[in-house]
Order: sequence, then C-alpha cells, then structure tokens
Amino acid sequence: MTDFATIYKLSLITCFIQACSSSCPVLECWFVQEKAGRGGGLTGATTQEKSLLLIRTDAERQSDESQQEPSDINPDRVYFSGCALFYLHLCGSVCVFKDSGLSPVYLQAEWFSSAFQGLNDQLSVSTITRAPTGSKEHSVILSVTSKTVLVKARLGEPVLLDCSFWVNPSSPLSGSGFAVEWRYQFRGRGRLVLAYDGKTDRLADAQEEGATLDFEAVHETGNASLIMQEAKVRHSGTYICTVYLPHLLAQVALDLEIEEPPSLSIHPSPLPLAVPGQTVVIQCEASGFAPLPVEFKWEVKGADGKSRPLDSFSVTGHRQAWDGTFSQSSRLELHTSKLDLGRGGEVTCVAVHAGGTRRTSVTLNVIGFSSPSIEDSMAMVGVALVLYGLIKFVSWTFSSSGSDEADKQEKVIL
Ligand SMILES: *[C@@H]1O[C@H](CO)[C@@H](O)[C@H](O)[C@H]1NC(C)=O
Repeated sequence: MTDFATIYKLSLITCFIQACSSSCPVLECWFVQEKAGRGGGLTGATTQEKSLLLIRTDAERQSDESQQEPSDINPDRVYFSGCALFYLHLCGSVCVFKDSGLSPVYLQAEWFSSAFQGLNDQLSVSTITRAPTGSKEHSVILSVTSKTVLVKARLGEPVLLDCSFWVNPSSPLSGSGFAVEWRYQFRGRGRLVLAYDGKTDRLADAQEEGATLDFEAVHETGNASLIMQEAKVRHSGTYICTVYLPHLLAQVALDLEIEEPPSLSIHPSPLPLAVPGQTVVIQCEASGFAPLPVEFKWEVKGADGKSRPLDSFSVTGHRQAWDGTFSQSSRLELHTSKLDLGRGGEVTCVAVHAGGTRRTSVTLNVIGFSSPSIEDSMAMVGVALVLYGLIKFVSWTFSSSGSDEADKQEKVIL
C-alpha cells in the first residue's frame, strides 16, 4: 500500500467479513455518511449508523424475510442483497458469498473495503483487500480509481468521466469476468446510465442516450471511463462507477457540474437620447445559464474614463427553459441628474456566474447639455468664421456692384 502514501484514508471502511464459506453472511456495517454540505473533504463531519447487510439468494430471501434482524438496528439500515445486485448505499463495500467455482480457502479470509481520496480532490481510489485468516498482510485484489473526481463542462461539450480498475492477476478472481456499471444520483434520485457485462460483452438495455464506454480499452487496460457525447443541464450530479468481479465490487463516485455562463442582452439598444434630469430605464437579460445563481452589477463610465458602480437596480425572479437553463433579468433606473455625466457615458451590465463573468454595454447620450464641450466650442468658432467670411463677401459683392451701377447711371445722366 506504499503507493498510497500521499493519500488520506477516508473514514469509510464499511463492512468486513471475518469468514464466509458455506453460507451467505450477515455483514455488520457502519453506514458512514458525510453530513450535508458535501465537499468538506476529510474535515467534513460524518454521521455513523450501525447497519446490516444480509446477503442471500432470492430463494433464501423469500423464505426468511424477517429473520436475524437485531432490534438495535434501524430497519432502514438493513440491506438485503444478492451479491451481484448489491451496490450504492454503502460507500465501497465488500461482498463474498457461497459459490461453487472458487476454492473456499480463498474466500475464507479477511476482506476489507477501503476508500481513499487525494488531497487535491482529483483522485479517488476504492480497494478491496484480502488477508489470509490469521495474517495481517493484505493484498489488493481489486481497485477502482478515478482521476476526475470533480468534472466541470460547458453545455454541449463532450464529457469524459474517468474510471479505471485493476484486478490482481495472481488472484483466482482475475480472468473470471467483470461487469462495469455507471449510475447517476441527484438529490436522492438515481438511475442507471450504463451497465456492461465484460464476460458476455453485452450492454444492458436501460442505457442512457449518448453515453458509452471504449469497450476495447475496458478489456485491454481496465479503462471504464464514461464517454458522454454532449453535456446537458440534467447531467449535473453524482456518477458512481462500480466494477464487479464475481464475488466483489468496488466503486468510486464523481461529481459532474454543467456550468454555462449567461448570454447578456440589453434593452433598449441603442438607447434613445436623454435630456438632462430624465430617468432612463435599462433592462439587462441574462439567459441560457446553469446552474443558479447569477449576480447582477451595473457600472457607468463617464467622459473621464472612470467606471462607477450603480446601485439603483432591481432583479426579477428566474425562469427555467425546456433545456434546463435559466434566465433572469435586471432593471436599472438611471437618474441622469444625480450623476455627473455631462453628455453621457457608457452603461455596462455585468453578470457574475460560476461559469464566467459576462458584460455588455450601451451608450447613453444626454442632449441639450448646458456647458459645451471643447469640440463644440471649436465648431462654433469655425461656424462663426465661415459666417463672418460669407457676410464680408456678400457685402463686398453688393457694395462693389452697387457702385458700378451708380457709375453707369451717373454716366447716362452725364
Ligand atoms: C480512457 O479512455 C478514454 C476514451 O477513449 C480516453 O480519452 C482516456 O484518455 C483513457 N484514459 C486512460 C487513463 O488511458
């Protein structure tokens, strides 16, 4: 286990079996659960509850349903399972039961299930180890690893959820078949994404569209990564990769977050001209984003080039579209008299979102403003000069032609 020197041991050793050969065992387990507010890692608080796992064949189950249940255990924490179906609730569990194929000596050992998590939250390993009875020397029989414990993807992107497994080649369990199962969990609801039986090379029917495995890689390198063609909002949640060997299973959990930043649009755009003292109303709509929330901010940049925050805005409730994305808008009331903006400025709507910050701007023009700008003064001087020139020219033309006429008349008279 020296490979795991940098890996913490999470408090998840759940069930173990002392010995199990001729009959299906009753497993005493601790149901270990992190308290609400995931992501606390090793410092996160946990709850522990004693639980039982009764492993039986279907026939046994029908005949003695209520037998062997001690009164000090919450009935909700009593699990029944045929080995092959036992999954999920116990975070990484071991399951050994009577079966004809294997040497009972091999199964009469101590089996442990352990879960490890990397410090950087990007590695998760779950192992099944075995120690021959009376020995303290454990060897890893099955390990399942994920290097993408937290995956973030944009809408429509292909997604790869990493999961690979290793089976100890010296174990009799190696080469006797495996199965890979991917399950999805979100807020207590679950569904099967994909189940693949490596022995028969068959996929279960209840397969989610657009999800697949690289079947060659599964057999050659134990690469059981889930490939999803196109990320959708409803794909956000926890994915559990479980690898089954004939008597064992191990699993790792990964979180997928679909994060799509908003697209912004501003109304009206362009803004109509404003007169000094007018209150201008501007709407900014953030759409197509996931997940919630989005935070709005407004800024204005005047002629001096400095941005100032504006706080006279409100935010509407959010709406959800058919594809699961959200939209929400903000309404700004801009009081031109309260702001020393002169002829206007640039008004910017900012939407801060986990997937990225987006901004969009619109130009505000205030007309009829009292103190003219330098450009205006220059223009006025220019116009004045032109007018002056024109007047001079006209008066010169008139006065000279007038005197010619007078001369002629004088000559006629003379
Ligand atoms: C596993 O397979 C996927 C899909 O082919 C690939 O992208 C990924 O790099 C593989 N992982 C490893 C560790 O080889």
